[in-house]
Amino acid sequence: MPSMRDQATEIMRRSDDLAAFTTVEGQITRPYGTTALLDAQAQLDTWMRAAGMATRTDTVGNLIGRYEADTGAPNAKTFLVGGHFDSVVDAGRYDGTLGILTGIAVVAHLHDSGQRLPFAIAVVAFADEEGNRFHTSFLGSSPVAGLWDPAWLALEDDAGVTLEDGIRSIGGDPHAIVADAIDPETVLGFIEVHIEQGPVLQDRNLPVAAVSSITGSLRATIEFIGVAGHAGTVPMNLRKDALAGAAELVLAVEAIGTSESDLVATVGKLESSPGASNVISGYAHLTLDLRHPDPVVRTRAFTSVRAAAEAIAERRKLGLVWTDSPSFAETPCDARLTDLLRTAIAEEGIEPLSLFSGAGHDVITMANVGPVTMMFVRCRDGISHNPAESIEEPDVEVALRVLLRFLLDVDDTDFG
Ligand code: GLV
Ligand code: MN
Ligand code: MN
Repeated sequence: MPSMRDQATEIMRRSDDLAAFTTVEGQITRPYGTTALLDAQAQLDTWMRAAGMATRTDTVGNLIGRYEADTGAPNAKTFLVGGHFDSVVDAGRYDGTLGILTGIAVVAHLHDSGQRLPFAIAVVAFADEEGNRFHTSFLGSSPVAGLWDPAWLALEDDAGVTLEDGIRSIGGDPHAIVADAIDPETVLGFIEVHIEQGPVLQDRNLPVAAVSSITGSLRATIEFIGVAGHAGTVPMNLRKDALAGAAELVLAVEAIGTSESDLVATVGKLESSPGASNVISGYAHLTLDLRHPDPVVRTRAFTSVRAAAEAIAERRKLGLVWTDSPSFAETPCDARLTDLLRTAIAEEGIEPLSLFSGAGHDVITMANVGPVTMMFVRCRDGISHNPAESIEEPDVEVALRVLLRFLLDVDDTDFG
């Protein structure tokens, strides 16, 4: 029977295997609704079945592997373990997938040792958490958690493809998505193992930590409409330069983000057209991602960015289109589950630290159907959303041990 060390080695190998599923050669770029995502899903399906799970795919494209309870009852209460297998543009190889691969490894361990728990375990692989293609938040887990908003079907990607068509392209029926919701009565809880994406664990020389809560975000897309023109003939004072307006807003966002502690504000994407060296920009499009744990501060800062955009547009005589994007509220992890996780960490001889998450995670939506918690795993230099993302195999082994202990403790305390 493979040891936990072997399982950790396998997770490192599988992370490399999944990295090969990409829409852009030489990168890991795996957005929702692409062949690369479907290929990754097929690979995960194979691994889930090899670990003793029965699998199914839901309408939005999530993959769910189920390992039945010791009673064999198909309606046994279920503890969910998971992560997401979409990625940001030019991503690292552990963000999201680590939660799925650790879930599969722990089920494989139980299966290989002939063990079942009094509850079923479902390993959930969410098809879209990052939302990079359709500017969504938690597209995969929202329907599962009963939070599906049919208005999202009209959202468009950069090529003008609607989410409705994106869902069809992977074989889903956009109007059946509401049926992806799971019955909260069947859910004991949800845990995600995720790389920390920050430097605290490295600084504290700890392999893992529990997560106490997740930040909230407000997001928008902003368009400036100017007039394209000849770069040599239109005098500076007669221009309506959309890119210059957008550039000014980028700096306003940075200033507003710096104005309050714990506030972060990012323009991660800025595009201008027509996009030629001798043509004045006639149109610019940018994204805003603004986060703070306190909704009052968050809303105040968001309102300030919007006021700045309006002032820039007015002064520069530009058109302005402001569109709010799906956002998420701050979410505490369940105190009792998180205590169980801290106990499991302590039982492995590790100081049971709790960290706050500045990144969004599917626990935010899953909290709608049951108690949630998360475990962070140390990542090198806190680097994430970057191909340099890196974790160490011994830390993965610790995470597996803690996750197994945690699930056994859920059993011991008859949680739920
Ligand atoms: C997901 O990684 C997010 O925090 O946006
Ligand atoms: Mn991410
Ligand atoms: Mn993630």
